[in-house]
Amino acid sequence: MSQELPGFGEARMIGIFGKTGCGKSVLAAYIVAGFARNPPLGILILDPQGEFANNFPRTYINGIPFDFHGLLRLTGRRFKVYSIGDIGFKNTDVDAFCELLKKSPYILRNLELRRSQDIDVAVSYLEWYIRGFIRENHTINDITLDQLIRWIMNILPRIFARETAQRKVQQLRSLLSSSFATNQTLRQGLEDRLNQIKALFQSRVSTEEIIDDLIANRDIVIINLEQVSILARRIGITPVELKAMILDRIISALERKGRELFQRGDVANVLVVLDEAHRYVPQRMPKDNEELARLLLRIRDNVKTTRKYGIGWMFITQTTVDFDKEIYRQLHEYFFGYGLRVGADAKHVKEVVPKGAFKIYEKIPDPKKSKKYVFMHVGSSSLVNTVGGVTFIEVLSFDEFIRVNYGITYEEFKQRYSSEAIERLAEPPED
Ligand SMILES: Nc1ncnc2c1ncn2[C@@H]1O[C@H](COP(=O)(O)OP(=O)(O)O)[C@@H](O)[C@H]1O
Ligand SMILES: [Mg+2]
Repeated sequence: MSQELPGFGEARMIGIFGKTGCGKSVLAAYIVAGFARNPPLGILILDPQGEFANNFPRTYINGIPFDFHGLLRLTGRRFKVYSIGDIGFKNTDVDAFCELLKKSPYILRNLELRRSQDIDVAVSYLEWYIRGFIRENHTINDITLDQLIRWIMNILPRIFARETAQRKVQQLRSLLSSSFATNQTLRQGLEDRLNQIKALFQSRVSTEEIIDDLIANRDIVIINLEQVSILARRIGITPVELKAMILDRIISALERKGRELFQRGDVANVLVVLDEAHRYVPQRMPKDNEELARLLLRIRDNVKTTRKYGIGWMFITQTTVDFDKEIYRQLHEYFFGYGLRVGADAKHVKEVVPKGAFKIYEKIPDPKKSKKYVFMHVGSSSLVNTVGGVTFIEVLSFDEFIRVNYGITYEEFKQRYSSEAIERLAEPPED
């Protein structure tokens, strides 16, 4: 099969596929460590489950804890981990705030907007008020419950017939703090919910700063989205939706920066790693879920256009079936682990590998039984020194990987690069 080599400065598009437990995350971590040796590449790991951020807490290879962070230290590269407490949304992101109000049913439903069509209309008016508010140099965090109630009191007559609107306005008036809110419990509930939403707008670090670390300093940046699930449930929206909203903002900031550099004749040189990719770039366009749909379109577009900005992608996912086909077909490199032998998965694998290769792929043993972690690799990669061919690779165990690539034993590694070693170094010397 002829496969176009990515041109100079063009970024790689990589997919790692295979059943849960076939060794995708470990392989991805090795590839990241491999790329990390190449100084000019910034690496952005979008980590929905926190596996990379938490240093693979559940992964042991032959009894040895898999130490991704140690591996990065060994390569001499700086890495930073950010979580939702650090990033969140910009304090002026009106779109995100309105979206959350719309999605988190509690607040508006308790402010006399019971039907979703009323909520939609009300939010479009609200958006207008909030934009004005932000223009006056306020931030999302300055929005108080009373302010919100007053805006809605103004909006109600535009949505409902006169009498209904009057009755609803009356109801809301009794919730204002100045009228000794007759319903303290409800007011408290609303305050709590509003504060939970506002907390997402108190980021310590802006997306732009993170992107600069990535591009100017060539850092390895891990965005840990694990905690987002808890916050999402608290405000009553699905974790994947909130994760999609945050990812969309990070990716669009990267895209803007990439374009800016490109227009100045420069390239970004960044690899974006996305685990659990099928959730964010699903095979079907998500219905009734604007956020996910927008993210899917953005990533699709990215794969087509940001390549020339020097922004590459690595998608990690369990099946080829649930993964967007448009992106699937645009990848430069495919790694197929155990477990895609039947049905539509088999069809998709066959689509991108030369005839005959699939017959060998079918013979990959079940890693659970064989303890062999084998992948079929197709495409062009300096990692395995093949061009346009198919290679079967057996992924090394952790101690072997260190020995083969860096020439040190696991004991030496542990002494110098493990978290314990780093903590030991940080302790003041005893006298
Ligand atoms: N190269 C390897 N050598 C030995 N064991 C491995 C290797 N890769 C993975 N494993 C084992 O398989 C388990 C699952 O690997 P993981 O990369 O998390 O799979 P996936 O991401 O595909 O679900 C790991 O916890 C580890 O015990
Ligand atoms: Mg995994």
